[in-house]
Amino acid sequence: TDLAKIRNFSIVAHIDHGKSTLADRLIQETGTVKDRDMKEQLLDSMDIERERGITIKANTVRIDYTADDGDTYVLNLIDTPGHVDFAYEVSRSMRAVEGSLLVVDSSQGVEAQTLANVYHAMEADHEIVPVLNKIDLPASDCDRVAEQIEDVIGIDASGAIQVSAKTGQGIRETLEAIVQHLPAPKGTRDAPLKAMLVDSWYDAYLGVIVLVRIMDGVLKKGMRVKFMSNDTLHNVDRIGVFRPEMQMIDSLGPGEIGFLTASIKQVRDTRVGDTITNDRNGTEVALPGFKPAQPVVFCGLFPVDSAEFEDLREAIDKLALNDASFSFEMETSAALGFGFRCGFLGLLHLEVIRDRIEREYNIELITTAPSVIYHVFMKDGEKIDLHNPADMPDMSKVDHIQEPRIKATILVPDDYLGDVLKLCQERRGLQEDLTYAGSRAMVVYDLPLNEVVFDFYDRLKSVTKGYASFDYQMTGYREDALVKMSVLVNDEPVDALSMMVHRDRAEMRGRAMCEKLKELIPRHMFKIPIQAAIGGKVIARETLSALRKDVTAKCYGGDATRKRKLLDKQKAGKKKMRQFGKVDIPQEAFISALKMD
Ligand code: GTP
Repeated sequence: TDLAKIRNFSIVAHIDHGKSTLADRLIQETGTVKDRDMKEQLLDSMDIERERGITIKANTVRIDYTADDGDTYVLNLIDTPGHVDFAYEVSRSMRAVEGSLLVVDSSQGVEAQTLANVYHAMEADHEIVPVLNKIDLPASDCDRVAEQIEDVIGIDASGAIQVSAKTGQGIRETLEAIVQHLPAPKGTRDAPLKAMLVDSWYDAYLGVIVLVRIMDGVLKKGMRVKFMSNDTLHNVDRIGVFRPEMQMIDSLGPGEIGFLTASIKQVRDTRVGDTITNDRNGTEVALPGFKPAQPVVFCGLFPVDSAEFEDLREAIDKLALNDASFSFEMETSAALGFGFRCGFLGLLHLEVIRDRIEREYNIELITTAPSVIYHVFMKDGEKIDLHNPADMPDMSKVDHIQEPRIKATILVPDDYLGDVLKLCQERRGLQEDLTYAGSRAMVVYDLPLNEVVFDFYDRLKSVTKGYASFDYQMTGYREDALVKMSVLVNDEPVDALSMMVHRDRAEMRGRAMCEKLKELIPRHMFKIPIQAAIGGKVIARETLSALRKDVTAKCYGGDATRKRKLLDKQKAGKKKMRQFGKVDIPQEAFISALKMD
């Protein structure tokens, strides 16, 4: 394809502002998919994505569009995820395209992820076309939102296109704007091949599929190519494009976006940001590589039924094949037996993986408290990266501990600002900035990541009735007075419940935890002390009183079936518990006990 007739772009938006709906409309309008084949949310291919309404894996589609000037253009859309956990995917795919549509819900306005995502686009030097969506809604206010885009983001929004992805209004104008305002890609056909590895994922039939953007040269079927980061060679078996279903072609030229397969077995063998070139006489200079995504949140996953450990291993192995950002290693816990310590990009990533294991592999899981990576500096000079509070060395040997910090940006209507500041303060936040854009405040806080990973987002949503939006990025490590808090149930330490806390907050957290556990653990035939401790010192204590519980007692002898039913029920209830010493702890206790309200 002639370079001048190509436009490559992505859509940036806050969650729910209509990115997927707009993408579907663009596809439909250009006849890329026949109407009767059109499913809602075509680009969100996974079930979980569909259910949760979030886009996880970046997807791409090639659209042919005959513009008002009579020429036919090839438009390549790369779909990017909208959630903060997947920021790395956003920034990587941005570098493969020249422009972005900035979609803002005109009944809502600019949100935290609008900002975060548009900054990625600006960093990648994109031309940006603002699109005001949902103009069919009565609350839509295009003038106000256009002004807000100019004030907060600092780009010209006078030519913003007014769209309803629902009714189809403004779709044609959007396509014209893509052709008119976005730059064509640059590249040299006669140069050695230089292609960017944009993304990769596992397909059961084709093996690993590699999404590429050709910078220079031509990628052809049957070619032998080199992945420059690790000098591996591969024979290209297939080349194709997404329309959005796969269509095989023979070659891809400069400026084009498509995929290749080369009998690659694992996603792990492909490095995002890598440069692909010819086996011989390839390019000398690789593209500036991207940083591989690093997991930042860790937790233990254990099967409720320990007999399912092997099934869990298989499930995790399979999921990891297709998700290079998910890490795991085997873990044994005194209380929970065999399981895995897993690393995730964030909490949503954790939830998605956990849901998939439970749903697709039918394994019930116990999830331990999410933790971040602490840097523990020992008195003897050794430095330990602590992924699991259970592995915390003896405090007397520890010199100091550093924890990861984040910069959090929160946008919130005025009315709720007080509650947001209070929440951030409670979570040991340091205020860095507070500005206004219309009736909304934008606050920037420096916060410890460990105060955010658990339930910060849920709390933020609840104190602001859902009106706040939130985004964060890691900033670095800082020393603080951190200690390990252990929990003892019936005098036995439950390693899966131990956590790192700030010394000043330990007592409060300990007390809350003991109270919660007292509610969550059913009474037994004996008295159960529940304690929180730092080192050998108990900082909080509750006692669960004894109960003589004979479920069959109220069945007045006679009815044997009824008796059996009750006993069966009791047994079934038991299955979801784990025994700790002599005590049964229900699986949901591990998560619920940690929630702060
Ligand atoms: P993520 O994939 O989670 O990032 O969300 P998204 O930005 O892709 O939003 P999506 O397209 O899923 O739209 C969110 C909701 O808004 C859906 O319920 C859509 O039906 C609705 N929606 C999208 N565009 C419009 C519009 O123009 N008008 C109205 N009334 N609703 C719309």
